[in-house]
Amino acid sequence: MRVTMPALKEYKRTGRRFTMMTAYDHQTAQILDEAGVPVLLVGDTLGIFFEGMPTTVGVSMDTMVHHCRAVSTAAKSALVVGDLPFGSYQESVRQAVGNAVRLVQQGGAQAVKLEGPRPEEVAAIAGAGIPVIGHLGLTPQSVHVQGRSRVQARTATAVERLVDDARALAKAGASALVLEAVPTEAGRLVTEALEVPTIGIGAGPHCDAQVLVTTEILGLSAGPRPRFAKLYADLRGEISDVARTVVAEVETGRYPAPEHSYDWDIVAS
Ligand code: KIV
Ligand code: NA
Repeated sequence: MRVTMPALKEYKRTGRRFTMMTAYDHQTAQILDEAGVPVLLVGDTLGIFFEGMPTTVGVSMDTMVHHCRAVSTAAKSALVVGDLPFGSYQESVRQAVGNAVRLVQQGGAQAVKLEGPRPEEVAAIAGAGIPVIGHLGLTPQSVHVQGRSRVQARTATAVERLVDDARALAKAGASALVLEAVPTEAGRLVTEALEVPTIGIGAGPHCDAQVLVTTEILGLSAGPRPRFAKLYADLRGEISDVARTVVAEVETGRYPAPEHSYDWDIVAS
């Protein structure tokens, strides 16, 4: 049975923590779905981890629809959330609703997510019948405004504003709120202020849920990882080992062996 947004709200009410993980492709989505990850995020971080761009601001709607489709066709139980990319909801409420509809209708997502304190856009998307998740704290699409500092809400005033913005999004109809890179205490205050679940990433242990960037925690991405990206595996190392072995086996003739090759008999029959 499909995880639904009302179920996630019920999780919060009953104190059940849950996980969201990013997926950009069909196979990864299938593995995560079968393993019981309840929420899959087709995040615009795919601009960085799939397309190799320096930030998320260059990701297009067409790209998001393409990846949403690859993930949604794999997810049998997980709720699939599609990220609205930079430029897809900043122009007008009408633009925001149109692009949210695209992620659902063409991408197969069951919910969308957008960044920043935009209660009007959230209200309009929710009003169109699409569950929408907010995203506050570090909002990577605002990289040119927020600058280089990762951790947000580091003063009492900033935390107050964060709580106010979170309340406004929830009041507008947001079904959940991603909180990125804020101090533990800020994560706790926002979580206590809302009836809808907070989904933290670098926002401490008091959030109702956690979201992890799969590529980072599997050790697939190169380069430095943020503090919150716990390394659960070294798939980069494993894939590299396999590649070296294949190269060596082909060069030495160890691969392919007879069991990887077709006999004349089999071809003829
Ligand atoms: O795009 C993404 O992966 C995200 C998560 C970091 C929350 O928005
Ligand atoms: Na994102």
